[in-house]
Amino acid sequence: MIMKDMAIADKVTDNENCETVRQLFAFIEASPSPFHAVSNMKRELEAQGYTRLLEGNAWKLEEGGKYYVIRGGSSIIAFRIPKKDFRGFQIMASHSDSPSFKVKENPEIEVEEHYVKLNVEKYGGMLCAPWFDRPLSVAGRLVVKEGNKLVTKLVSVDRDLCMIPNLAIHMNREANEGYKYNAQKDMLPLYGCESAKGGFMAQIAEAAGVEEENIIGSDLFLYNRMKGSVWGADEEFMSIGKLDDLQCAFASLRAFLDSEDGKSIPVHCVFDNEEVGSGTKQGAASTFLLDTLLRINEGLGRTMGQYHQALASSFMLSADNAHGVHPNQPDKACPTNRPYINGGIVIKFSANQKYTTDGLAAAVFTQICNKAGVPYQIFVNRSDILGGSTLGNISGTQVALNTVDIGLAQLAMHSPYETGGVKDTDYLIKAAKEFFRAAIVEVGEGEYQLL
Ligand code: CO
Repeated sequence: MIMKDMAIADKVTDNENCETVRQLFAFIEASPSPFHAVSNMKRELEAQGYTRLLEGNAWKLEEGGKYYVIRGGSSIIAFRIPKKDFRGFQIMASHSDSPSFKVKENPEIEVEEHYVKLNVEKYGGMLCAPWFDRPLSVAGRLVVKEGNKLVTKLVSVDRDLCMIPNLAIHMNREANEGYKYNAQKDMLPLYGCESAKGGFMAQIAEAAGVEEENIIGSDLFLYNRMKGSVWGADEEFMSIGKLDDLQCAFASLRAFLDSEDGKSIPVHCVFDNEEVGSGTKQGAASTFLLDTLLRINEGLGRTMGQYHQALASSFMLSADNAHGVHPNQPDKACPTNRPYINGGIVIKFSANQKYTTDGLAAAVFTQICNKAGVPYQIFVNRSDILGGSTLGNISGTQVALNTVDIGLAQLAMHSPYETGGVKDTDYLIKAAKEFFRAAIVEVGEGEYQLL
């Protein structure tokens, strides 16, 4: 009887997981570029009554108000104000970009009057090999002239458009001995035959529904056309492009929208350009978050003193995906900290503070996970491997507050088709809901109370 009940309970959880994975796939497939990801989040926020603020206008904020602000078209911060006399900010940060290839200006290259290929350059540090032999397309944004105005239009060519074909094994017998990819030579996608010449931007214009001669600027990227897939003996794995970091961005938005109001201001924050060092006007190293927090404080008629008091009782989740133990390379992971897919939220540590987590931040976050009933696990690099960096320590140079670096375990990070677990997104949504509702109030030197 007990076994039967457990089996039913498992099924219910599975169904919940299925629905979340379905929504995650829908979000990622509708987000072939960071501009699309932000636009999709904006649509969701507006559907739930959030008001757009422009950085160039005065902000009139009200208790009970719900707002969002976009910078550069590819970074977004949403917040609401449950109480004018709030205790602090509960910020969850993630990123909208993923490694890809950016289409260069004047992209067409003719090959022997027979092929047209596209000139591209690397955006971020991708695994090159899995970009070969799969249908790709192009998406991004255009800047279009309309009278004396410059307007931005999203564009996505929603069909298989180009491909990077491998060289046959017969023409490179050493192909499986390790290959050094040359971005200018090996990675250019084939776009068409001779007749395609001169047609690329016309095709982009048509897809965007604008006149080609009115396009005066563009930011276009390749993206993988392969749809999401759920697989494995018990359908426990899922694969799709851009899990890093749209899985965290999706979970952050869902939790932000569904969380109850507490004594803090919940802040959903998604930065662009994490994959290229965050040093842009809309990146985590910019003043975007700082400016927004200051303007929230000012918009509510509070003093700078009150702003700094609030920061002392604020907390950030820097949410960016983590490496799970790899089944074929288990020795690449730290010997005593073994994060697995479907094992819960990963808390990331680094002695050099590439990850911001310290004993205190981890202690606070594990309490939140316990409250939410969500499992967590630990990631630390092997002591002889230099790991990556992420948002938290960079954002901390602009807005310094208690921060924990977390993520969800995945395999094949920075491949155009990454693998994660079907359970983990729900774990993060649950914990983030608890986080957004909480207040972490400084009550003494190194002493905090969780409200
Ligand atoms: Co990432």
